[in-house]
Amino acid sequence: MQYDFETKQQYRIKVHNAIDQYCTATRWIRRIAYLESGQALETKFLIARGHRPENLIPINRSPQIAAWINRRVPDVTCLVGEIHRVLRTHQPRPHAINFDGTGWLNKRTMCVIVPMLTLYAPVVAVTILAGREKGQINDIRNKTASMVGDCYRTSDGVEVSNEDYARMLGVRECLTHIYCPTSHDGTVTLDPRSINDIDKLKWGIYISESHQKMIWVVARVNRVVPIEVIHQQFQIDADVLRETGRI
Ligand SMILES: C[S@@+](CC[C@H](N)C(=O)[O-])C[C@H]1O[C@@H](n2cnc3c(N)ncnc32)[C@H](O)[C@@H]1O
Repeated sequence: MQYDFETKQQYRIKVHNAIDQYCTATRWIRRIAYLESGQALETKFLIARGHRPENLIPINRSPQIAAWINRRVPDVTCLVGEIHRVLRTHQPRPHAINFDGTGWLNKRTMCVIVPMLTLYAPVVAVTILAGREKGQINDIRNKTASMVGDCYRTSDGVEVSNEDYARMLGVRECLTHIYCPTSHDGTVTLDPRSINDIDKLKWGIYISESHQKMIWVVARVNRVVPIEVIHQQFQIDADVLRETGRI
């Protein structure tokens, strides 16, 4: 995958402008964790914006890709592993996380990865591929469908479809709640215990080079349940997912 195209660069600017607004730490001291590709374009982008290489925490699950990143920008060290596992033990904690996985919002992302990221930084950005949700956003879509006559807009004021608005709400709910996957029929339901308040959110859409629609969301979250309780709950969720072969 190549990530050096115009809309991707505009996307990086918008996401990091929102992170600038939501982080109290200045760029000079801000620690940012993010999924990086072998091209190391986000790393180069952040250094050009005034971030210090020692504050950057690029992550990739592939040791080969990590080696490419380290070779392209020798001042940074890419961490290897699944982002939610790497960040569980990483100290000091980042001020912001950019989860630019560019995959669709599947159960693993909804139930485990995105909610866990909110434990490790107060500002979290998530980018997903629009489509292929296989009915997982139907509930949200039905809720928003009642707003007949109104139109849905991104934070930049761009008019969007009901489906894309529903996708943003889907990401927002992942950032706000613990999801409970049930073990038999694959249904995913919201845990009634909300774990986060979201006090600020920006979102938008960009089209990738392969003409795929991508939805990005940047949120500032306030945790409302103690971290021990959440870790325990996540362990249960992760076990259910593991047992049913979903992670
Ligand atoms: C879309 S690229 C990142 C692009 C980069 N943010 C940019 O602006 O150029 C995401 C990379 O992270 C990897 N990845 C996706 N999900 C991951 C996860 N949960 N943990 C670790 N790596 C992951 C993908 O395989 C891919 O190499």
